[in-house]
Amino acid sequence: DKGTYPYYMLKEIDEQPNVMRKLSARYLDLDGNPMIDPKLLSEIKDSDRIYIVGAGTSYHAGLVGKIQLEKLTGIPTEVHVASEFAYEHPILSKKPFFIFLSQSGETADSRQVLVNVNKKNLPSLTVTNVANSTLSRESTFTLLLDAGPEISVASTKAYTAQIALEAILAKAVGEYVGNQAAKDFDLKGQLALVATGMQSIVDEKAKMDQVAKDYFVDAKQAFYIGRGIDYTVSIEAALKLKEISYVHAEGFASGELKHGTIALIEEGTPVIGIITQADTAALTRSNLAETATRGAKTLSIVRKSLAKPGDTFVIPDVDEMLSPLLSVIPAQLIAYYTSLNKGLNVDLPRNLAKSVTVE
Ligand code: M6R
Repeated sequence: DKGTYPYYMLKEIDEQPNVMRKLSARYLDLDGNPMIDPKLLSEIKDSDRIYIVGAGTSYHAGLVGKIQLEKLTGIPTEVHVASEFAYEHPILSKKPFFIFLSQSGETADSRQVLVNVNKKNLPSLTVTNVANSTLSRESTFTLLLDAGPEISVASTKAYTAQIALEAILAKAVGEYVGNQAAKDFDLKGQLALVATGMQSIVDEKAKMDQVAKDYFVDAKQAFYIGRGIDYTVSIEAALKLKEISYVHAEGFASGELKHGTIALIEEGTPVIGIITQADTAALTRSNLAETATRGAKTLSIVRKSLAKPGDTFVIPDVDEMLSPLLSVIPAQLIAYYTSLNKGLNVDLPRNLAKSVTVE
């Protein structure tokens, strides 16, 4: 039931602070220690490489998970688009461990990879929002997102829940293998900050609505740019805009612009820079300025301690590894209001289904 909300998507965007609190309460004890099945931790500890598999937004959440897992566990991690990986005949490491990310747990592309994994008797974990879903039943372990039903075709709260749960898993495995960064990471405190930070962003709906009207409703194309973890959010932000507002959008690694794609910038093209990482902030800023000199209308989503006068959306400071949990929210809302202001059916975009059960 969407209550007083015009669309499920807006309700699901608003639920995200609470989803963070629920995940923290379910998987971290009062002292902040992870509560994860030790058998799962020991399987991952014994592996020499983690393979994350997903489609669409779940794939994008996997790109963030790789950064978290490598930083907190030291185990090399790869991320793959399910539909590609299923037929690539990859050369696997000696002791691989597979993580499947799927909101629905029913995505046929991801399942095809799992079928191959099971034929090889390799261990796997499914991170899903749906208990007893196909992927959950067929993999060795399951972790539930507990985000509540996600009805809107555009995935929002499942993305942030997946990223938060990947961080919890990374901390748990990291502590298990004795990683100091994992031990020092106050994830419980951070997730509390994330929840209040998300709330402050979703409370700025009027601003997102105005930005959608001023920059996106009449746009033919739009670009999100960033580096590292901000690049991963850029492609998720662009997918949201494409899928529900039909504006042609792409996420670019900002350093790649000058290697070709900057040719696409026309007078008035909206370009949004995502800037949350201290070591690359200045570089992304100068790449954003380069698009402005070619006529782009530039906007920015910037973490508070990196912010400068004139930034469009200043988001609260949280650990850099968790920054996607906040930087994605303005993008979700921009996509929502662009779709709404164009008079489209936000929850049921053309040509798409919520659960993709064919390959
Ligand atoms: O249920 P899943 O997480 O496996 O679904 C994967 C994709 O189909 C899904 O994330 C899709 O990209 C969304 N519509 C994006 O908003």
